[in-house]
Amino acid sequence: MKRIGMLTSGGDCQALNATMRGVVKGLTNNIDELEIYGFEEGYKGLIYGNYRLLTARDFSGILTQGGTIIGSSRQPFKLMRTPDANGLDKVEAMKQNYYKLRLDCLVILGGNGTQKTANLLREEGLNVIHLPKTIDNDIYGTDLTFGYQSAINIATDCIDCIHTTASSHGRCFIVEVMGHKVGWLTLMAGIAGGADIILIPEIPYDVEKVCEAIEKRNKKGKKFTILAVAEGAISKEMAALEKKELKKEQEKLAKKYPSVSYKLAEEIAAKLGVEVRVTVPGHTQRGGSPCPFDRVLSTRLGAYAAQLIIKGEYGYMVAVVNNEIKKVKLEDSAGKLKSVSPKDQTIMLAKSIGISFGD
Ligand code: F6P
Repeated sequence: MKRIGMLTSGGDCQALNATMRGVVKGLTNNIDELEIYGFEEGYKGLIYGNYRLLTARDFSGILTQGGTIIGSSRQPFKLMRTPDANGLDKVEAMKQNYYKLRLDCLVILGGNGTQKTANLLREEGLNVIHLPKTIDNDIYGTDLTFGYQSAINIATDCIDCIHTTASSHGRCFIVEVMGHKVGWLTLMAGIAGGADIILIPEIPYDVEKVCEAIEKRNKKGKKFTILAVAEGAISKEMAALEKKELKKEQEKLAKKYPSVSYKLAEEIAAKLGVEVRVTVPGHTQRGGSPCPFDRVLSTRLGAYAAQLIIKGEYGYMVAVVNNEIKKVKLEDSAGKLKSVSPKDQTIMLAKSIGISFGD
């Protein structure tokens, strides 16, 4: 008999249901008795005791369904130790609900912040298994996260669509791809979509270099240019600022522009006298059905998590390491970010075929 609690926390992505299904199928196929408590809207459900008793049937037919059947919400890690408006100690409340339900383990699906709280709960003595979710692919210790490939496909489709219209009108287009802190998604979708310029947070850009790259194309007779720009792309001047100054400057800019792409578009238009349009696929990148690659990845991750639960091995993230599913100690991963190295071979090779990174 196993009693597990399950929650999905943070920004959603396409393969959350597929991963939970993998866990539940892996368990029901190997043990006779299973109780599943689904906490609603992530840690909020665990804190306030909002849960549903689920059965294997609830996890059937959801392989292809985007979103999450138990809901999600953002519960910032840095506020976990701060009591809520009514003075409730959130960590204690989570522990009490865990013990009240006599859970063997909590299965926690989420990104970096979620993982930090999972590790905190581990330090507090709870049994946890973390499954790495995020379209950003920025979780340290795993080569891949589920949701990432599906988001690459959507962002690439967007760039593909923009390509044809940009070409017809001879325009310069910016496609803003999700990712405030890291540029994996922008890098991959940018290359897959044949972007001419790719700007990511890890490589601060120089607007002059961006304009040079556009002009170079124009001189070759190419009338349009596609830029794939991460939400967190940052100029060299901004990147050189102290943390406090940077925050001030960002707040100032936020009053004028909806995002970095609009500022960049204005600068390019002013410098080169060309038409620049911005397209933001936004949350479509997290929506819809998981792509086949993610369905397989999620099934592998979920099935492995089930094996850990059956063996009673807790305190791990289930990760992809060199294309194998492995367990990684939570303390070795939590609190670290997996960024794109500017020296990454993919970047070097992209540069070698003429893609500009604005540096
Ligand atoms: O972390 C996933 C992510 O989709 C980021 O890529 C994006 O910057 C952010 O979440 C958007 O968050 P929200 O859904 O809260 O607007």
